Amino acid sequence: MAKFLFVTDLDDTLVYRTVGDDSALAELNQLLSQHRQKYGTKIVYATGRSPVLYKELQAQKNLLQPDALVLSVGTEIYFDTTDTPDSDWSEILSTGWERETVLSLTRKYPELIQQPDSEQRPLKVSFFLQQEASVRVVPQLEAELQKNKLNVKLIYSSGIDLDIVPHSSDKGQAMQFLRQKWKFAAEQTVVCGDSGNDIALFAVGNARGIIVGNARKELLQWHNEHPDEHRYLASCFCAGGIIEGLKYFGLL
Ligand code: GLC
Ligand code: MG
Repeated sequence: MAKFLFVTDLDDTLVYRTVGDDSALAELNQLLSQHRQKYGTKIVYATGRSPVLYKELQAQKNLLQPDALVLSVGTEIYFDTTDTPDSDWSEILSTGWERETVLSLTRKYPELIQQPDSEQRPLKVSFFLQQEASVRVVPQLEAELQKNKLNVKLIYSSGIDLDIVPHSSDKGQAMQFLRQKWKFAAEQTVVCGDSGNDIALFAVGNARGIIVGNARKELLQWHNEHPDEHRYLASCFCAGGIIEGLKYFGLL
């Protein structure tokens, strides 16, 4: 056994968002904390949630203290429990990011409903957008933002959430930043997810990937279109699926 870098999404990957059986979570927590103690394995949560919504989840569920926290779809990285994100990472993302201009261009689209204030972050603007409208609105908005030379990325998840973030940002880029910092090879890195904003974790860097059995349509479709022998599609849901995948890759 050797140390590895464990990166997981939270909602509907590590934990059930609404109702569900989190019993496998207790088992996974125990396996991971033992591994961390014995081999120096690092635990990272990578979520779309802001600090406010992360703290809410932390109070509801039994989460381990991570070695790093990737919040707001990869736009913020925290190494401690302070409210200050890593400034090296924020600086990389801030170059060329024009939040106000992005916002003003989105105002033309009545289909875009602003998410709560807590989810509007310095390097992320977020909307609710219905699935049917997304097919037309996302490419149109993307083209318009590009025409205005705004270097951004649109990330659509779970048939409802639209995030606009700096182009050099997503969960995958944040994971690469941590891999370089801590020097983990691809075969020592495993990423877990269930929905659209997790695609970036699977798409960069050749890490081992675990898609939980309850994954959303957009991730499954991407997985089918981009087959990769280093990616495992679990049958179990959430933490149960993660345990299944970690065993499959011989990491546990
Ligand atoms: C979380 C965030 C939300 C974001 C979504 C998808 O639910 O709270 O702002 O749009 O993840 O990334
Ligand atoms: Mg999720």
